[in-house]
Amino acid sequence: MSKALVLGAPGGPEALRWQEVADRAPAAGEAAIRHTAIGVNFIDTYYRSGLYAWPETPLIVGAEAAGVVEAVGPEVEGVAVGDRVAYTTPLGAYRERRIIAADRLIRLPDGISDEIAATVMLKGLTVQYLVTSTFPVKAGDVALVHAAAGGVGLLMGQWLKALGATAIGTAGSPEKAELARAHGYDHVIDYRRDDFVAVVRDITQGRGCDVVYDSVGRDTWAGSLRCLRKRGAFVSFGQSSGPIEGFSLAMLAQGGSLSACRPMLFHYIEERAELEARAADLFARLAAGAVRAEVRQRFALANAADAHRALEGRATSGASVLIP
Ligand SMILES: NC(=O)c1ccc[n+]([C@@H]2O[C@H](COP(=O)([O-])OP(=O)(O)OC[C@H]3O[C@@H](n4cnc5c(N)ncnc54)[C@H](OP(=O)(O)O)[C@@H]3O)[C@@H](O)[C@H]2O)c1
Repeated sequence: MSKALVLGAPGGPEALRWQEVADRAPAAGEAAIRHTAIGVNFIDTYYRSGLYAWPETPLIVGAEAAGVVEAVGPEVEGVAVGDRVAYTTPLGAYRERRIIAADRLIRLPDGISDEIAATVMLKGLTVQYLVTSTFPVKAGDVALVHAAAGGVGLLMGQWLKALGATAIGTAGSPEKAELARAHGYDHVIDYRRDDFVAVVRDITQGRGCDVVYDSVGRDTWAGSLRCLRKRGAFVSFGQSSGPIEGFSLAMLAQGGSLSACRPMLFHYIEERAELEARAADLFARLAAGAVRAEVRQRFALANAADAHRALEGRATSGASVLIP
């Protein structure tokens, strides 16, 4: 037996129940992992609250983690007992031990700690696909990123800087704005105090941005469209303030032949080869120091509810991990 945080029904953070769950041996193609660190992500709160439909009940949330392989089933290639590994999957990581398809695992290079791995498999790969595939950023592009001091945000600023783009961030307090500035952003706007659309217009001298990466949703999407240059790209990749309502395709024409998309990481790493290539790019940038990853909040796994309260209450910056 091992322990997990189990949800019996959607609810607030208190719905996460720390309880014993049955263990089993890995079947063909599977590995058993003893977790050492588990990342906290907004998607965990979307599932917990029921905003995202549950594929099964009861549910275990958690979308990125690192650990050690304890056992492998038949027909497993590429990982062996004792390997340090990490992965990202939509669900299932808030537990001490788990069985997982071995082809989702990435073996960790020596220079990457388990805690760092548990914060970059989802957040870092997200930045990787957003800036290389969803909207391939090139030197000289101007990008606006909301929640720039968040887990994804701090990695994104550094990555944009490394690509030679001008990065404009928004953040919800002077302290968060300062933190974002130290992580690659050329300009940071306190969007709880200032009108970010007006400031972006000033910064870009009326032209607007090439791309907006918007993970805040309800509170920012309309302003985001107004921050774009003609034929600019609106990349909506999250909804930390709530879902977008009232959007219509006609707005893209009115905004100047804009494009819009709503990408998700898991559609960019379905193929093993693509997962490996994106992870290799991420780890190379971390090893080169072009992008620094750090853990800014730690919680015991059993206290993940506190991590959710902090994340949903805008009280965190950068990445948080849960320690089993
Ligand atoms: N589509 C994908 O593939 C994908 C993958 C990973 C993450 N995401 C999305 O990216 C976003 C960032 O994820 P994360 O885990 O790194 O979280 P995060 O950015 O560390 O935390 C969310 C931040 O959003 C901001 N925010 C603005 N309005 C908010 C509100 N009403 N309630 C709560 N927060 C609010 C807060 O920053 P301020 O205080 O600075 O406003 C808060 O710290 C999430 O929307 C997530 O769903 C999407």
